Amino acid sequence: MKEIRIKTTREYSVLVGHGAVAELPQRLPALTSARRLLIVTDDNVAPLHLPALEQQLTGYELHHLVLPHGEEHKNLDTIVDILTCLKSCGFDRNDLVIALGGGVVGDMAAFAASIYMRGISFINIPTTLLAQVDSSVGGKTGVDFGGAKNIVGSFHQPLLVICDTAYLSTLPPAVFADGCAEVIKYAFIDDAELLELIDRGIAANIEAVVSRCVENKGRIVAGDEADRGQRALLNLGHTVGHAVEALSDYQISHGSAVAIGLHVITAAAEQAGLCEAGVQQRLAATLSANNLPLACPYGAEALLERIRSDKKVSGDGISVILPQKMCSSRIEKMSFDQLLTLLKGVLA
Ligand SMILES: NC(=O)c1ccc[n+]([C@@H]2O[C@H](COP(=O)([O-])OP(=O)(O)OC[C@H]3O[C@@H](n4cnc5c(N)ncnc54)[C@H](O)[C@@H]3O)[C@@H](O)[C@H]2O)c1
Ligand SMILES: [Zn+2]
Repeated sequence: MKEIRIKTTREYSVLVGHGAVAELPQRLPALTSARRLLIVTDDNVAPLHLPALEQQLTGYELHHLVLPHGEEHKNLDTIVDILTCLKSCGFDRNDLVIALGGGVVGDMAAFAASIYMRGISFINIPTTLLAQVDSSVGGKTGVDFGGAKNIVGSFHQPLLVICDTAYLSTLPPAVFADGCAEVIKYAFIDDAELLELIDRGIAANIEAVVSRCVENKGRIVAGDEADRGQRALLNLGHTVGHAVEALSDYQISHGSAVAIGLHVITAAAEQAGLCEAGVQQRLAATLSANNLPLACPYGAEALLERIRSDKKVSGDGISVILPQKMCSSRIEKMSFDQLLTLLKGVLA
């Protein structure tokens, strides 16, 4: 098992390993004086993994809340359900919320914990590859609102994150592939050694891959906790990816959309002479080897229109993350017209 320290304002550990969740009972007393624990999970994860977790947590007043799975339930109504549960079970400010699930469960359990009594403690036990390598680290919480993703939320750092890779063995293959898109993203942001690991097989090297991604995310978010600068690098592939996801009415999954976004922006940068030749081919081979799509079903104009309406866009420009060399990307401020020209280089 590996322990990675995330050096945000309040430091915390991420434990990574097969069976790492067994560490939880002995870690808890040093982290919290909670008497009551609420485990928030969803109806896919609960039958597979909730009983084993509950069995470990003796000596506490234990509660659980099983949410319906899926992004369509990531809204304020569900937050009210979590808050109602906390209130009716008599939770006080010393008590603890534990998320057991993917990014949807994690983002909502953390958001509810961040506002109940102005913030109670939270531990995240992510059970998808995406949640282990991405959403569980960094302290962003939230829900979708008014048709916009993650537009209502807060920053709330966890006390502890446990990435137990044993959970990943029950993931549907398409959900595993979604997480692979984020893993590949980290390699092309700035991690050549991770790319070598990916070449040797993500599943075959899962502990090393998850650790490496958590270290990368931890380093980037610790340097920019409030998301005003370098953290934007984590959006490689996401400017186009989010637009693809939204234009498909969320029928294209986040991971597939990010794969398409990575491919489009890399091809466009290379075409415009902003990126060394060969990066796009290497990226395409890596995405394909991990069962991810490349082809973008939308044209440059449609993508741009959607990007313009995104919440992260301010004024008439946008920060785009551009690959510049193999495993090296940079943040580039450009106008919408420049971005449109760039995209038109590779899309109709
Ligand atoms: N907070 C952040 O910084 C951040 C970063 C990236 C993504 N996100 C958010 O994460 C969410 C996506 O997360 P996700 O991809 O984990 O989706 P998800 O939570 O919807 O999980 C995907 C599916 O897998 C199921 N599942 C989870 N674990 C399982 C397991 N071990 N075995 C079998 N099935 C399992 C879930 O029930 C669900 O149906 C989005 O809402 C996104 O906005 C947040
Ligand atoms: Zn993502």
